[in-house]
Amino acid sequence: MRILSGIKPSNVPTLGNYLGAMQNFVKLQNEYKDADIIVFVADLHSITVPIDRQELKKDIRSLAALYIAVGLDPVRTHIFIQSEVPCHSELSFVLECNSYIGEMERMIQFKEKSVKQGLTVSTGLLTYPCLMASDILLYDANYVPVGEDQKQHVELTRDIAIRFNNKYGETFTVPEPLIMKAGARIMSLQDPAHKMSKTDPNPKGYITLLDDINEAKNKIKRAVTDSLGVVKYDKENQGALANLMTIYSNLSGLSYEEIEKKYEGLGYKEFKEDLAEIVGSTLEKIQTKYYEIIKSPELDRILDEGRDYAYSIARKKLSKVYKRIGLGRN
Ligand code: TYM
Repeated sequence: MRILSGIKPSNVPTLGNYLGAMQNFVKLQNEYKDADIIVFVADLHSITVPIDRQELKKDIRSLAALYIAVGLDPVRTHIFIQSEVPCHSELSFVLECNSYIGEMERMIQFKEKSVKQGLTVSTGLLTYPCLMASDILLYDANYVPVGEDQKQHVELTRDIAIRFNNKYGETFTVPEPLIMKAGARIMSLQDPAHKMSKTDPNPKGYITLLDDINEAKNKIKRAVTDSLGVVKYDKENQGALANLMTIYSNLSGLSYEEIEKKYEGLGYKEFKEDLAEIVGSTLEKIQTKYYEIIKSPELDRILDEGRDYAYSIARKKLSKVYKRIGLGRN
């Protein structure tokens, strides 16, 4: 069984990326001892929107180090950088020729981002789901752990795989999205109607894993809530609080009921102060490990190993695909 996922190195990962994705990679790694686990830095995906090259360079290395800092064990999990394995782009073109523009235009993320960018939206942003499908199908991944917002892309990957298999014969494993219920959609700290995003123009809405600890704590303390003043999990009427409770529950291991009991008769102030401490200590642990790894030559050794491993699998699959289609000489 193979489990595979990736994250875009656009800015530093947020608490949303951590709870919706990274934390689950670690859980799966520790739970499924026999599974082959591949996690990569999806740097090609980052260039679908305008991005500063110096920032990108820094964020690629930083994300690789963060994977290890959050608990991925490079002995168990293969970690690599997407653009270092050219097969991803190569298969992507083949999949573009086996998918429809209508399918791409239907993607919620494309619609949202293209509305924001208007005419300057890149062609790559439209075809992005084919690159993501390549990331998954090259490795015959069985399970793809992602947050809620990526579900549609994994479902499209399934459609593309099934279509290709029907047309050219059994070639790809049809993957399944793995979405853990809790933490699958962490919302902005300033606007509970929008998901927490590293590209939010308001930095108070998100916490990144490398935020200054005190600043991160303050963002929690200043997060919007409501005027009801009762710590109760009620997504409909107390959406902002429910979001904070989800973060609390995920990081502390306490259930919503246990949290409600703990703060019975107390206000949001106590709740937020405790949550700020919990977030602070989570970040502190991650950052301590991060600053050890980012400086060490070990990181390059891990990424070299990951690249070689990924390449050996991906190249074989790509040759098979080319053969099935009739490309090249053999
Ligand atoms: P990206 O980089 O936008 O997000 C990385 C992961 O974090 C999850 N996520 C969230 N989860 C909960 N709450 C949030 N607010 C939140 N924001 C983001 C995402 O669902 C995702 O799991 N296209 C992908 C990266 C990718 C990929 C792949 C993933 C490229 N190829 C192949 C899986 C398999 C992306 O842009 O994720």
